[in-house]
Amino acid sequence: MKKITIAIDGYSSTGKSTVAKQLAKHLGYIYVDSGAMYRAVTYFAMQHGCIDHDQFDKAALLSILDDVAISFKFNPALGYAEVYLNGENVEKAIRTLAVSEFVSQIAAVPEIRAQLVKIQKEMGGNKGVVMDGRDIGTVVFPNAELKLFMTASPEIRAERRYNELLQRGEDVSFEAVLKNVKDRDFIDSNRKDSPLIKASDAIEIDNTDMDLKEQYDVILNLVNQVLNKA
Ligand code: CDP
Repeated sequence: MKKITIAIDGYSSTGKSTVAKQLAKHLGYIYVDSGAMYRAVTYFAMQHGCIDHDQFDKAALLSILDDVAISFKFNPALGYAEVYLNGENVEKAIRTLAVSEFVSQIAAVPEIRAQLVKIQKEMGGNKGVVMDGRDIGTVVFPNAELKLFMTASPEIRAERRYNELLQRGEDVSFEAVLKNVKDRDFIDSNRKDSPLIKASDAIEIDNTDMDLKEQYDVILNLVNQVLNKA
């Protein structure tokens, strides 16, 4: 059967990666979490003192950007690829609220985007890929056969993310998570380079009132429609 490219964009914590992983597993496709790459660069910037609550030294970060090597390695126990920064598995380290608080500033830098988009295009060059992010259907794979744009109310999204962080043992408040969700929506949607917008040919899925099974069923149905035509 012909392989297609599936681009899943949308606001923070809309369950993009959950459904992307499910689809990739079902179809035998590669799953790429593009947000993990921006998170890994952010983690690197934090470790090197380029960004904190008082400052963001963009020039310093750009001067050491060549030292950033991001890769993915499939973990058979988990059933998806984990992200590595310079050989270190940073899958857990990049998911903290602290990284979320800086990632949108890092992701607004055109030089960083250019570097990561290049890798993303290479990873999906042979199709058979499900990639989630903010600009996948608009910039990375404008010709994707299926584009989804995920939304949900900020409160529901914050609640989902809050529960995830608690489960991972992070000590955070719901208010801080809600603020971060709203701040990132704003920065991601208003940046100059590759802002988060719905591609004109993307299908919008509002999952505020859907559980995971309903969401998967709706999306799998859309995938099958495209595959039947391909
Ligand atoms: O927290 P959530 O899973 O919703 O976000 P993510 O997919 O891990 O992405 C983290 C951040 O990376 C976003 O808030 C964006 O600032 C940035 N990002 C981006 O600019 N472009 C992408 N293709 C993916 C993520």
